[in-house]
Amino acid sequence: MDAGGVTIRLIGADEVEAFRRIRLEALRVDPSSFASRYEDWEILSLQEWRDRLNEPVFIAFQEDEPVGIMGLFRQRSSKMAHRATIVMVYVCAKLRGTGVAVKLLEAISNHARNIGIRQLELFVSAENSAAMRFYQRQGFAEIGRIPGGVLEDGREIDDVMMARRLVG
Ligand SMILES: CC(C)(COP(=O)(O)OP(=O)(O)OC[C@H]1O[C@@H](n2cnc3c(N)ncnc32)[C@H](O)[C@@H]1OP(=O)(O)O)[C@@H](O)C(=O)NCCC(=O)NCCS
Repeated sequence: MDAGGVTIRLIGADEVEAFRRIRLEALRVDPSSFASRYEDWEILSLQEWRDRLNEPVFIAFQEDEPVGIMGLFRQRSSKMAHRATIVMVYVCAKLRGTGVAVKLLEAISNHARNIGIRQLELFVSAENSAAMRFYQRQGFAEIGRIPGGVLEDGREIDDVMMARRLVG
């Protein structure tokens, strides 16, 4: 898939270095947008990074540079395996508002549909209004919130749950 010089693909274990680069950039540049901390991930071994690629991870590349990422985490229980959570959503600042995030979401939605997912879900900080508007524009709706779901610098912030059906 090509979005104005940006190529999006499902990465394999041989591209773990690109995964590491963009994920650590996301956690460093936008720490308040994620439930994980940079410090949690920078200490992972190469094998632990590879293990995280057991779940699908899509990366946007511009001239071989990773510039965006989205991952998919499928529910494990058999009665819930039609649901998956979108994780690690990030596009580098210079490519926001260009459609790269939409293309990543399209790629992950197509993949999810192909593996039998009926519903995409995600969590977003109640203070991350830009991301929430992006998700709303893409058909996600708030389905609930966990009060004080995230503790950041001693401050409790609500975690908003959003969902979008992939099938009618
Ligand atoms: C969430 C994200 C992937 C959406 O991608 P995007 O390209 O910005 O999506 P959109 O083009 O729909 O823009 C979303 C909002 O950011 C604004 N925006 C666009 N370009 C921007 C830029 N260069 N810098 C900052 N904000 C920008 C848009 O105007 C829009 O706000 P609006 O609703 O008031 O118009 C991206 O904003 C991002 O990586 N954010 C940081 C990480 C993050 O929050 N991840 C989500 C975790 S749940």
